[in-house]
Amino acid sequence: MIKKIAINTGGGDAPGLNAVIQAATLAATKRGWEVVGIREGYSGLLDPQNYPSGGLVRLTPESVQDISHLGGTILGTVNKGNPFKVTESLQGGIKVEKDRSDELMEAFKKNQIDALIAIGGDGSLTIANSFYKRGLRVVGVPKTIDNDLESTVLTFGYQTAVSFATECIDRLHSTADAHRRIFVVEVMGRYAGWIALNSGIAGRADAILIPEIPYSIQKVADHITSSKRPYAIVVVAEGAKPVGGEVMVMAREAGRQERLGGVAEQISTQLQQLTAQESRAMVLGHLLRGGSPIAFDRILGLTFGAAAVGALAKGESGVMVALQPPRICSVPLAEAVAKMKLVPVEGDGVSTARALDICLGD
Ligand code: F6P
Repeated sequence: MIKKIAINTGGGDAPGLNAVIQAATLAATKRGWEVVGIREGYSGLLDPQNYPSGGLVRLTPESVQDISHLGGTILGTVNKGNPFKVTESLQGGIKVEKDRSDELMEAFKKNQIDALIAIGGDGSLTIANSFYKRGLRVVGVPKTIDNDLESTVLTFGYQTAVSFATECIDRLHSTADAHRRIFVVEVMGRYAGWIALNSGIAGRADAILIPEIPYSIQKVADHITSSKRPYAIVVVAEGAKPVGGEVMVMAREAGRQERLGGVAEQISTQLQQLTAQESRAMVLGHLLRGGSPIAFDRILGLTFGAAAVGALAKGESGVMVALQPPRICSVPLAEAVAKMKLVPVEGDGVSTARALDICLGD
């Protein structure tokens, strides 16, 4: 029997996180469960003394009513907060790693939390899985703008990132044309090229460089010089690397993933030399993660949030909700027009909570 659940957000933020929190809260409250949010990953539970207004936030339908359109996360997040490996500083500047997972399991018990909805990327979900193995009831919700999780077709935040990157690339065409310049646009995505590939195609780039296919700078230069366009736009994923070369790492820090970046500047310099055409580098970086989610990501986030509660209600644990629609296929036209998909509406209106149930076929 579940009476109380907790929700947390971990890793880099992604537009749509608040939509997940909203739907999970609505769906859980409807089932009579109490909902709390843990501040900044697991920190609110582990170190509540650091939060003057409490490490846990009570989430109610009223408190989450107007958040699904907001970027960021109302709970805050961390991307170096693995409770199994907390770095602590001793006297003399010595750093040690401590496993605080027992403390955390105890804190879940003390706060009478029966289950956790963990919203995160590969790092956060690996931690969530470790807690599941320790006996905590856990359902994961995939989150990353990189869209690099194998078992879900889409993650929320990704389409927002692609849309914004496309808008930026669109804007560069006119200034690139006016100056007959090359623009090299670097986008996030870590070791995956999804954002670069799709924003590059949508934004009509001359070349798109992704981690999955190492590039030859000479081939890119030849393509630009042979093009009829007087200017060029090259979209490059931060994790792209040349044939036989390595990804460009900006910083390495203990306890967190390496930070990628700098490839656009390098490529821009090389292209200017090889083509004798002026070139500029442009890094879109965190602009792709900030701001409001587009409608698609709000809906995907809401659907994932409600589905996570549905999974817990069915007794599932140690699972992640995922979007796995069938591939695009052909259906007979007669069948397609005969089967119009209408949302059944009760009475003369439908509440958000009911609409989510309808989406999930409840
Ligand atoms: O995983 C999401 C992501 O935005 C990556 O695309 C990017 O490499 C990384 O996070 C940046 O992390 P941070 O915000 O810690 O610099």
